[in-house]
Amino acid sequence: MDTRYLVTSALPYANGPLHLGHLAGAYLPADTYVRFLRMCGEDVIYVCGTDEHGVPITITAEKQGRTPREVVDEYHATIRREFEAFGISFDNFSRTSLPSHAEFARGVFLDLLGKGLIAERTMKQLHCPRCSRFLPDRYVNGTCPKCGTPGARGDLCESCGSWLEALELKAPSCSICGSEPSPRDTTHWFLRLDAFQGWLREWLPSREGWRDNVLNYCRGWLDEGLQERAITRDIDWGVPVPLDAASGKVLYVWFEALLGYVSSTRELFEKRGDPGAWERWWKDPGTRLVHFIGKDNIVFHAIIEPAILRGLGGFVLPWNIPANEFLNISGQKQSTSRGTAVWMGEYLERFQPDPMRYTLSINAPEGRDADFTWAEFRVRNNELADVLGNFVNRTVSFAFREFGGLVPACGGPGEREKALADMALQAGASIRGLLSTFRFKAACAEAMALAREGNRYFDSSEPWRTARASREECARTIRHSLEFIDWLRLVFSPFLPFSCEKIALMLGGGRENRWDAIGRPSLVEGTRLGQPVILFEKLEEGFDGSAAPGKPSASVAPGVKGENDTKAPAAEPEAPARVSFDEFRKLDLRVGRIISAEPVPKADKLLAMKVDLGEPEPRSIVAGLRQWYEPDALAGRLVVVVSNLEPARIRGVQSDGMILASDGGSGVFVLGPDPSARPGDKVR
Ligand code: 2FM
Ligand code: ZN
Repeated sequence: MDTRYLVTSALPYANGPLHLGHLAGAYLPADTYVRFLRMCGEDVIYVCGTDEHGVPITITAEKQGRTPREVVDEYHATIRREFEAFGISFDNFSRTSLPSHAEFARGVFLDLLGKGLIAERTMKQLHCPRCSRFLPDRYVNGTCPKCGTPGARGDLCESCGSWLEALELKAPSCSICGSEPSPRDTTHWFLRLDAFQGWLREWLPSREGWRDNVLNYCRGWLDEGLQERAITRDIDWGVPVPLDAASGKVLYVWFEALLGYVSSTRELFEKRGDPGAWERWWKDPGTRLVHFIGKDNIVFHAIIEPAILRGLGGFVLPWNIPANEFLNISGQKQSTSRGTAVWMGEYLERFQPDPMRYTLSINAPEGRDADFTWAEFRVRNNELADVLGNFVNRTVSFAFREFGGLVPACGGPGEREKALADMALQAGASIRGLLSTFRFKAACAEAMALAREGNRYFDSSEPWRTARASREECARTIRHSLEFIDWLRLVFSPFLPFSCEKIALMLGGGRENRWDAIGRPSLVEGTRLGQPVILFEKLEEGFDGSAAPGKPSASVAPGVKGENDTKAPAAEPEAPARVSFDEFRKLDLRVGRIISAEPVPKADKLLAMKVDLGEPEPRSIVAGLRQWYEPDALAGRLVVVVSNLEPARIRGVQSDGMILASDGGSGVFVLGPDPSARPGDKVR
């Protein structure tokens, strides 16, 4: 039987921008998983889209004085753009307001109605006397009857994840006008969940490899006994119920949104010119249906959706539902109203996507809630810079300095190199096992541990020493470091797709993305490498996420203009000011020869050097070259020095002069005079 993976992420409501909690919960792990599956050559599609109906949309529209259509059009575009910028690689990103989705959802409703799995009932529903209307779902707030938290909504308590009936809420109030509502009779159509209780009791416990949080939630539900639930609503924005008797009513947003996964798949294959293929993906038993969600969505995906699909008959059921817990921000729940959320869009205005992808993967809310802080972000960003970025940069820069920017030839691996390849092979297998079983946090940590081995190998092989003592040994070190970088590129690809593309370019481009290439040398001698680029910029000590002039603007509710929305226009790149010849002449530029260089303790960027300027005593000069040069590689070099700069103490070391270096996107390189120049010669 052919296996194929149908991966989904919860359809986000198109009623506001998304924050880091959304990203960490349902999108980043799914994207990591599908990228990994693609590298393993699996047949996989990844579908999602925006959830554009129901009370979450109408209530936002009312509060903002806009139409629901305006709201969903704006946020569909925003959400799509931000996912793309974070590298979330959907095969299709649809919308539930498309006519094709409505048609499919109405067909499902009629099918279940025909089978007696949907039934018409007269029920009591809360009605607001002041607004003169029924209050479905979020139109009513109150205290959760299960956990006692105030602020629970009519359909869901976000705090304990319970799916509620509005009538159960304690101290209910209308969320538009605040009045106390009272129950009134209305007619709705109910999904006969009770009919699935016996089957779910058997099916759920037999699921293999499901997370405990998912099974525990479901057990609680089944222990309480499943009840019929209303799947129609008295609002005018949604999929109209396909019955004359239900005029003016729409399908409950959750009922149709779950079907959005199927609609998005149908749309995908229509775009691919193979409209019938969706059925294979949803009906052939070889399909592994994987739903990535946050914990507040468990009941819908582990109970309601399986019931609907089983009721329809012939559909595959979820193969796994790796639900995540919540991501808090500095110990607090991400909340729009309290201003504690960090929006994806705001982050992207300031930083590259990969450092956040890494931070949220290695600190994923798997098994328990996780906490995001900017201090943690700095540490993780700098870990990337110090370990992965540094290893890649020092190796590629070394290859440029010593081997003309080509993959050097080398006479086969020694013991150390064989051990290195072995380590990569084993790590590749282990990370594969972890990713296959949805343990992203552990997989990411193991990838980083492997990167540390690269630096260890480089340091212990001392290529800066062997560059003089044994070219062959030096070439071997650089060649095997480059191979190792390629394997790191592969293990990090699912986590850091943007950086790994840059690494591929530094390795000369045209690299394959196959998981089984890890640990197997594949670089070709003489290949021209790409210029070394800085993969990750380090963040200074004391960085706390503040963006000049204020905090990252997390304190503004979506759609509400606040002072943080007014951004200073981007500064125009300024043309350098002209200086007069007399001003230029004030600089005393001299040829110098570096006698020695050594790291400045507790300063990871600085080197302290003794430089011969043709004077009786060598000068002591401190420069930020540690990241770019091995100390030994600098000794003996001719450089250009500003000799009359005011002396300063830098990290406790006297610095008397400045060494000139170029500083472009490809790195920092000291400027060297012609070899015939002598220390002390004037530079004009
Ligand atoms: O919780 C939410 O944001 C919902 N819009 C998730 C829907 S998932 C699925 F049903 F589409
Ligand atoms: Zn009201």
